[in-house]
Amino acid sequence: MSEPILYCDGEYVPESRARLSPFDLGVQFGDGIYEVVSAWQGMVFRLDDHLQRLTDSLHAARIDTGLDRQAWAQIVCETARRNGLRDAAIKIVVTRGVLPRGNPDPRAAKPSVRAFATPYAHLGSEEQRAKGIRLQIGHQRGMAPDTLDPRYKHTARLQYQLAKIEALDSGYDDVVWLSAQGFVEEAPRSNLFLVKDGVLRTPALGVLHGITRMTFCELAAELSIPVDAGNVTAFDLFVADEVFTCSTSGAALPVREVSGRSIRGTIPGELTQRLNALYWRKREAGWHGTRL
Ligand code: PDD
Repeated sequence: MSEPILYCDGEYVPESRARLSPFDLGVQFGDGIYEVVSAWQGMVFRLDDHLQRLTDSLHAARIDTGLDRQAWAQIVCETARRNGLRDAAIKIVVTRGVLPRGNPDPRAAKPSVRAFATPYAHLGSEEQRAKGIRLQIGHQRGMAPDTLDPRYKHTARLQYQLAKIEALDSGYDDVVWLSAQGFVEEAPRSNLFLVKDGVLRTPALGVLHGITRMTFCELAAELSIPVDAGNVTAFDLFVADEVFTCSTSGAALPVREVSGRSIRGTIPGELTQRLNALYWRKREAGWHGTRL
């Protein structure tokens, strides 16, 4: 297999030549923003929406790369093309960068921009997609929005990694956490939905505004399924008819158990299957697609 090609501060270089300084504030402090976009059958999905989220996060984080939307779109598509990938995850990582020597002012750093593409991968294995995952409600609470708003797609993910590691150690496949007020938020790499009595519900607050989450809400409207974005508690998950996580990495992933409570009914649930099937059908027909 040939060496992956990465975008590195304005250049496309083979992996062996891609470098990031250990002085970079992204390396030292996890001070950065990232974005993950997917391509399927040569079409990038909702590129504009992903770039809006990226540029919003960068603006709020006071990281100015000088790149405009057109330049970002070019980087995403060119990175996939140079790696010969039509089914791909394209990841952009922007870190605050390196400070001039002796200057501790974070505003003086010059941002570093990296992008790389890997073959499209689902978050769940084939078996997990068919039979569902076991989801743990972790003991760690989500970050308060006045500390680090989860709408930043940031790279400071120690908390998420620890929650995931603890869930795996306990024999679960993934984890969701609660807010300080006790409402369900999200998983380390996905948003969460439940279905109860025909209504699709998802936590409104304390979550990344996932592109897949937004898409599923739109698809539900198309299927005349009522959507309720509001407060969700652990109890709501325990008694749900269907639970699934969703992300750019594979769309819906059914959940068969939440912290020891089995989800009753078939797995994947009926609405989960209908929504997911519509997602893929529309994607494959070019819906919200940008050709590579
Ligand atoms: N994860 N919540 C969190 C914390 C996430 O990191 C992600 C995305 C999502 C789902 O967002 P979207 O539908 O836009 O992919 C929700 C990406 C896929 C990742 O980290 O690889």
